[in-house]
Amino acid sequence: MSTISDVKERIDIVALVSEYTPLTKAGKNYKGLCPFHAEKHASFFVFPDRQTWRCFGACGEGGDAFSFMMKKEGVDFKEALEMLAQRAGVQIERKSAPDIERDEAKERLLAAAEAATEYYHNLLVNSEAGARARDYLAHRNIAGETISGFRLGYSPDGWTALKDLLSSRGYSETELVEAGLLVQREDGSSYDRFRDRVMFPICDAQGKVVGFGARAFGDLQPKYVNSPQTRIFDKSSVLYGIHRARAAARRANRIILVEGYTDVLQAHQHGWDNAVAPMGTSLTERQASALSHITKNVYLALDADEAGRAAAMRTIRETTGRFRDAFGQRTVPEMRARGKPASRSILDADIRVIVLPAGKDPDEIIAESPEMWAQLVEKATPYVDFYVDTLVRSADTTTARGKRELIAQCEPVIAELEDPMERSRFYSRLSRALEIPERSLMAELSEIERRRRPSRSAGKPERGQRPRRVGTSATEEYCLCLLLTNPQLRPSADGLSAEHFEATENRHVYEAWCSTEDLNELRSQLDASLREHLDYLLSEPFPAGIPRDEKTRSLTLSDCILLLQERLSKRLHFAMETALNRERQQEGVEAELAALDQTGIQSTQELHEIFLRQGRRGPARRR
Ligand code: UTP
Ligand code: MN
Repeated sequence: MSTISDVKERIDIVALVSEYTPLTKAGKNYKGLCPFHAEKHASFFVFPDRQTWRCFGACGEGGDAFSFMMKKEGVDFKEALEMLAQRAGVQIERKSAPDIERDEAKERLLAAAEAATEYYHNLLVNSEAGARARDYLAHRNIAGETISGFRLGYSPDGWTALKDLLSSRGYSETELVEAGLLVQREDGSSYDRFRDRVMFPICDAQGKVVGFGARAFGDLQPKYVNSPQTRIFDKSSVLYGIHRARAAARRANRIILVEGYTDVLQAHQHGWDNAVAPMGTSLTERQASALSHITKNVYLALDADEAGRAAAMRTIRETTGRFRDAFGQRTVPEMRARGKPASRSILDADIRVIVLPAGKDPDEIIAESPEMWAQLVEKATPYVDFYVDTLVRSADTTTARGKRELIAQCEPVIAELEDPMERSRFYSRLSRALEIPERSLMAELSEIERRRRPSRSAGKPERGQRPRRVGTSATEEYCLCLLLTNPQLRPSADGLSAEHFEATENRHVYEAWCSTEDLNELRSQLDASLREHLDYLLSEPFPAGIPRDEKTRSLTLSDCILLLQERLSKRLHFAMETALNRERQQEGVEAELAALDQTGIQSTQELHEIFLRQGRRGPARRR
């Protein structure tokens, strides 16, 4: 849970406000004298249900606990968060002195990795010793541009070349071991980890070198020596090539997953700069999660000859599973618009398989025939189709028995498909391949399932993140998420204003969104805790997900805006009622209403318009 929501959950706004102004109960709400301006009659309301407040007097403002503290204490969001966190006993990840020290130590490890990269690269490009590596790369069709773009290098033969150099630059042996550059012997002494190899620096998404892959010449084993797990290198979260592929993948709205270093290099070299590779493992959840922020369209280049197909299938099942985990379970609170089911679980990614010819790497294919590669990418098979094809190929479909066995094999695979669309895709393709009517197929399947059911009666375990509290801000968040992840919807958000967002963190993100179209710039405008909130929104944490097709997405956004508008109107309507009530009951209201006008409160103006639009009688005394 984010710090913001954690704090929100623990703060009771009634108790908080009571410390600044005495409150009395008014129905299910509370009211008191406004702590922000001098007044004789209570016009300040607190709504415990929504955990919000509003002054219906001269201020005309309202908000949540954060905005209350910001206004009352004259602090910014970050400070308000800190004050409330302290009050709530929530630990904010603030940098203490030891943290700062740790950061500095980490910076030094990164600097050491950077220095090593420069050193290796320079040796490859300029030295006598690097000649063999240069030849090797040329032989592998790796161009000079690729070598400099990816900062490839050569680690010299010898035990202490890098150690000597970096020691002379002030790095301690311990640091170099910690950075994964040296290997420590039992006796405590150490030596260069990478020797006489072609070096592939591995960068994080920002382009900082965090580790290395190092290839031997020829058939020497092990083929690759990689950096160990260190404080700067986590193999399960980095993707090779991500720093150069991210922008391209956003642009192309598609990312290509290949297997190894050389595949990435060759792809980029030929203009497929949206390719990345995990480090010799199948995709991890953290990698899937990183990708999910870039694009939903993921192409897996997989070796799919008969022998490779089973492995490919496993890879896909793992990969789609990772994506499901990364996105979590989805059910949309409050968003029952347009008759959508309130709860649905889907894999919100379009995963396709680039089926490689037997025994060939993308590296080889691209080098030999870029055209063929382009065709393979275009012909990429939706993963559900690939499942069906693979299963069908492995079965004897000439006999009824063979067919029946095949259907039994399909059952667990189908069970994994939670999206009804994908299931029906599976059924229809299988039915065509087997020449069995879909209805008979389904009957057979449900029979199999029925027979199997007792053994898994306990039901499926809960998967994914824990469901979030259905807060007042679910619609706000859904709306923001739509806007953040769909730049093309920007014009449709004309009707929105900061006032529509009651939760301060949402309002801040909205305002930042208004000020720029660039997500990175937007991020840089927010402080750490709000950035965390931004990431949360970007992760699309909604159980029913974001609709896939553009039209529904745009309709959903309209629904959201309408809902937010309705809420705002309700708040303002209540404000007006309160004002009118007082006009009837109390003296001196004229003056207060005049004051209300003078402050030029936009909301009053808006309210007036809303009244007119709804054909109701406007407030009597307003001109
Ligand atoms: P491959 O064996 O397919 O290597 O392993 P490759 O990338 O095609 O390399 P070339 O073309 O033979 O030079 C795929 C990936 O698995 C990891 C590396 O990340 C490699 O790129 N791997 C493989 C290792 O980490 N260590 C190894 O010994 C082998
Ligand atoms: Mn290869």
